[in-house]
Amino acid sequence: MIDQLMNKTHDESRQGEAYAPFVRDPNEYRKRFYIESYGCQMNFADSEVVAAILNQEGYGATRELTEADLIFINTCSIREKAEQTVRKRLTEFRKLKESKKGMLVGVLGCMAERLKAQFLEEEKLVDIVVGPDAYRSLPALVSEAESGQKAVNVLLSRDETYADISPVRLDNNGVSAFVSIMRGCNNMCSFCVVPFTRGRERSRDASSIIRECRDLFENGYREVTLLGQNVDSYYYVDENGQETVTFARLMEAVASISPLLRVRFSTSHPKDITDEVLYTMARHENICKYIHLPVQSGSTRILQLMNRTYTREWYMAKVDRIREILPECGISSDIIAGFCTEEEKDHADTLAVMAYSRYDMSYMFIYSERPGTLAQRRYTDDIPEPVKKRRLQEIVELQNRLSLESNRADIGKTFTVLIEGDSKRSDQDWMGRNSQNKVIVFPKKAGSSLKAGDYADVRVHDCTQATLLGNLI
Ligand code: 5AD
Ligand code: SF4
Repeated sequence: MIDQLMNKTHDESRQGEAYAPFVRDPNEYRKRFYIESYGCQMNFADSEVVAAILNQEGYGATRELTEADLIFINTCSIREKAEQTVRKRLTEFRKLKESKKGMLVGVLGCMAERLKAQFLEEEKLVDIVVGPDAYRSLPALVSEAESGQKAVNVLLSRDETYADISPVRLDNNGVSAFVSIMRGCNNMCSFCVVPFTRGRERSRDASSIIRECRDLFENGYREVTLLGQNVDSYYYVDENGQETVTFARLMEAVASISPLLRVRFSTSHPKDITDEVLYTMARHENICKYIHLPVQSGSTRILQLMNRTYTREWYMAKVDRIREILPECGISSDIIAGFCTEEEKDHADTLAVMAYSRYDMSYMFIYSERPGTLAQRRYTDDIPEPVKKRRLQEIVELQNRLSLESNRADIGKTFTVLIEGDSKRSDQDWMGRNSQNKVIVFPKKAGSSLKAGDYADVRVHDCTQATLLGNLI
């Protein structure tokens, strides 16, 4: 099955962002919804599934809050701060709701799952609460809420992957898209709420993923990012039990759609990324040479408390392996400062692993205790806030240095850049990314026919910590 699909080849910080709707006849829809998303890329991808489900029911997306009959907020629970942001936003919606009769507010995603019906009690003006596996029931829940009842569905599923739903691309640059390949997580990192809010891990039907990627390519997209909490444990067995598809195989199938389609993926767990994946990346020019490989901590003792199942040495050996097989590969990380019992020497170990790995970029966080997690039940959140902050600051400063060093090392090199659009600062410049996921800005050339979605060869002549600056060659 996957071979047939492969052979049919042919001739590529958004927190709280409201999405632009696909342009359609405004009279086509009977009502309007507004959706705002927080958290990980997965949540943004889920909002596109929600939009597809609502579209089918005759609800069209709007970017204008005041125009909306339905307001949805797709929420994140990963840190307390994320939840606070959402609560603040809900109080703003409340005011709006008071002034607009009949308007409904729905909470989606991880906070909905975590807080369940409690939400309806606490936040009196929330009408609908829907967990990440229950979006198919949204139309029924909306009807229920329209008739004045409170509507909740937070059932988690063992097999829901929304495989058959074609997401409506909302935040649409027309060049790059996220494609969800699996849901949930079985890892049980002790700090993490995700296994509780998103449930058990399950992989989406491989042929539906390949179909979605091919459709995107045919519609002019030139980059897909395959999304999952832990993509390397992707494993799909077809209905007849005849064929198994690993992540490496899936990635290869997507890369074979066209050499002009770039393939990215996120996130990899260091324990699961295999040589097979690395060699597959090496074989295909269009599989981007970039791996997000969260370390979380550089101390073996802390890693053990975090239940990450690897040691610092094991992680560093994995980085060595990546550099050996993919010498040009970009590597980024997630790092947590101030986990339970973390001492100065553990923190120093984290800084040392960062320097060893020479991360191009990192997402860096202060540990935030989450209710119900293993860490909350077993350990004391005992690092004083000022200490956490100071350690985070040191981590950020080191990362800034590493990012600048990594960018400086690119000066003089030439990269193939996929153009995403105008640069943020000037419509005289293009902005795009190289295979390593670094942003490159370069001046447009008078009379050139280049456009978003095209590839261009760009030589880097300068950089900042966050951006490479170049010229077309
Ligand atoms: N506190 C701080 N950071 C966390 N992350 C996950 N849970 C927590 C928490 N309780 C971070 C991890 C993860 C990223 C998505 O968020 O680094 O990789
Ligand atoms: Fe959380 Fe670990 Fe799953 Fe990532 S892999 S979502 S850190 S439990």
